[in-house]
Amino acid sequence: MRIHTFVPLLCVGGAYALPALPWLAQLPVEGLVRCWGLFAPLSEDRTVYQVLKDDDKYSRLVKAIDLSDRVVDLLDDPAASITFFAVPNSGIPHRQPDDDDYLFSSASLAPKRGDERDIAHDLGHLVLQVEELDDMPDSRDKDHRKEALGRIIRGILAYHILPEKLDSAGLVQNSTYATNLTLKDGSMDYQPLRLTVQSTVVPPRLRINTVVDVITRDVEASNGVIHAINFPLLPPPSVFSEMFLIPEVFSYVTSAIQRVDLTGELDRWWTPGKNGGHGSFVGAQITTFFAPTSGAFQRLPNKLRLFLFSPFGAKALKKLLEYHIVPNFVLFTDYVHDATTDSDFVDDWKAGSHAGPPVELPGDAIYAYNLTVPTMLENHTLNVQVARYKSKIPLPGPPRYFTRFLVNGRDVGPYDIPARNGALQVITGLLNPRGHHKGDHKHHGHQSMDLDWEDWEEWLPQWAMQD
Ligand SMILES: *[C@@H]1O[C@H](CO)[C@@H](O)[C@H](O)[C@H]1NC(C)=O
Ligand SMILES: *[C@@H]1O[C@H](CO)[C@@H](O)[C@H](O)[C@H]1NC(C)=O
Ligand SMILES: *[C@@H]1O[C@H](CO)[C@@H](O)[C@H](O)[C@H]1NC(C)=O
Ligand SMILES: *[C@@H]1O[C@H](CO)[C@@H](O)[C@H](O)[C@H]1NC(C)=O
Repeated sequence: MRIHTFVPLLCVGGAYALPALPWLAQLPVEGLVRCWGLFAPLSEDRTVYQVLKDDDKYSRLVKAIDLSDRVVDLLDDPAASITFFAVPNSGIPHRQPDDDDYLFSSASLAPKRGDERDIAHDLGHLVLQVEELDDMPDSRDKDHRKEALGRIIRGILAYHILPEKLDSAGLVQNSTYATNLTLKDGSMDYQPLRLTVQSTVVPPRLRINTVVDVITRDVEASNGVIHAINFPLLPPPSVFSEMFLIPEVFSYVTSAIQRVDLTGELDRWWTPGKNGGHGSFVGAQITTFFAPTSGAFQRLPNKLRLFLFSPFGAKALKKLLEYHIVPNFVLFTDYVHDATTDSDFVDDWKAGSHAGPPVELPGDAIYAYNLTVPTMLENHTLNVQVARYKSKIPLPGPPRYFTRFLVNGRDVGPYDIPARNGALQVITGLLNPRGHHKGDHKHHGHQSMDLDWEDWEEWLPQWAMQD
């Protein structure tokens, strides 16, 4: 059959497109077996560094890597076992004639020292700056600049490295992963910054931090695995800055936070020292925010919304927002760190110490736990329920996983957005400190209204005034 000759091509081009093809059923079984055989790891004796160095597609990235001995040492360490997200040349911008407004410089990783002031903090522009070194005559200045660039590159590339080897099948098992980047300023309570992985079947996609796509999976190396990505990863900014970057979704909540002076509980920023002294990072080191979208505010009864944003409602607004902040604590669905006791009770929950009495896993969950977490409001806790499932729908390729995540009975999503100083969990309704979620109902045929807040006048103004 002619189709036979197409099989290898399909495998290379899009293994996951296969099930969508109506004539799949006609494929001879041997064809498929041979096809999947292509994905079996070939033994590769070159390290991650050598594989990249030998591949012209990565020449621009390698030039940047070469500026940091520490990155080279790790990628070339035969004893390492790592995952590296590599940006090919096509994912790095080309120099524009007047391109010096560096996007996302607010996401800066480290305080910029004197010699780092004009250095970009995203990998694409860093590579451009490395390339510009070629046009500089040799000088002490050039050496200094090289060193400064190397320092920043080391930080950014550390965010592209996972300290364990995870092929694409391993990578979809959890929702978040620790990277090799730990910040010295205390962000994340000195725990590594994390990244998040989402996978979808249709379209077939493996996505990092919601915006970066894996374009080539599972390139084997002797000391790890390489996944090519279409754009560089950006070490995430603070919880507050992240929301501020997406006003379409978060303009209500960011303006509410600023209005009641809670910015310092969610943001983390660099302040220069006085009179040339040392500066430092200030603000929240580690926190989790259940962030209501602008839609959540719009579904409140009109009168309540007017009240909250009026001078009389400021106290209520502040207490409500405090009820959405879990301070000194990071909660991802698969990783929990309590900075007040310095414990990661990722494994404890299985032992049941935080999860209450051990219970039967619902259905076919791979793990499930319930957690009660404190908020900034004394005596007001949130109830979190998480269950992770493995999909039973038979599809070729690695198994699929999904998570059910509820806070006070409400669905959370998008969830597990990593930040420099914690986790951002998005909710489409405000959490009511008085009880569990009741649901939405359609109002006047168009806009749905949040039922939890119907009787707010009976308790909220009074509640706001207590203490
Ligand atoms: C980064 O990787 C190196 C080498 O494996 C290791 O020594 C170091 O502890 C790692 N750092 C983090 C934050 O994972
Ligand atoms: C996935 O998460 C579970 C629960 O936190 C953890 O035990 C496991 O080591 C994680 N797997 C990977 C590959 O990181
Ligand atoms: C979590 O709480 C819900 C509701 O009370 C319950 O149905 C479920 O079994 C609990 N799950 C675990 C893992 O404790
Ligand atoms: C919290 O609860 C404790 C014990 O019930 C009580 O003593 C304390 O006053 C409460 N705090 C507030 C702010 O309500």
